[in-house]
Amino acid sequence: MQDYRQFLDEIIIPEDALQKRITEVGEEISRDYVGKRLHLVCILRGGVLFLSDLVRNISIPVTIDFMAVSSYGASNRQTTGQVRITLDLKDDISDRHVIVVEDIVDSGYTIKSVLEFLKVRHPRSLSVCTLLDKPSRREVEVPIHYRGFTIPNKFVFGYGLDIDEFYRNLPFIASVDLERYHIVEGQTPS
Ligand code: IMP
Ligand code: MG
Repeated sequence: MQDYRQFLDEIIIPEDALQKRITEVGEEISRDYVGKRLHLVCILRGGVLFLSDLVRNISIPVTIDFMAVSSYGASNRQTTGQVRITLDLKDDISDRHVIVVEDIVDSGYTIKSVLEFLKVRHPRSLSVCTLLDKPSRREVEVPIHYRGFTIPNKFVFGYGLDIDEFYRNLPFIASVDLERYHIVEGQTPS
């Protein structure tokens, strides 16, 4: 297992800046949904660290649920247009105020599909909150109501985002120098 410092390009968003911005986003959501019950749908696995810090900064009644999706024929670092549900929500979302919580919107295919999956279940409202937005990579237009940070076209890891499933536990967002990154045989899960 390579130490991330061996392929670190740069730390794009340090821990304190991340936490400060997440506090602001939580406060903004709390203001926008005041007097309502909010239901957060976290997209696994990347969104889980963001969700857990975000809910701690939401001051109105809030419930959480989880959904996982995967892309058919996706290479490791690229999503294709074909997205399917691999883990569905536990609870019904009809007539509820739903915000989808994502780690990153890249091509946009994942969030577009998630919104299509959820819309037909008739939520009262449906919004998107993403920690990171990489607009230079967008292939389909998607609505983003809450955005933590806009980042340049670099592959990033940490704070929920993985490289071959590892490094999600790091408390900051960093970019990878792919020339110095090596997949270690037998150490990656897939
Ligand atoms: P999209 O469908 O292309 O918008 O991609 C969304 C998904 O691809 C995210 O939920 C991530 O799992 C993954 N992804 C996209 N860009 C990155 C990145 O820079 N680092 C790690 N994962 C990424
Ligand atoms: Mg991933």
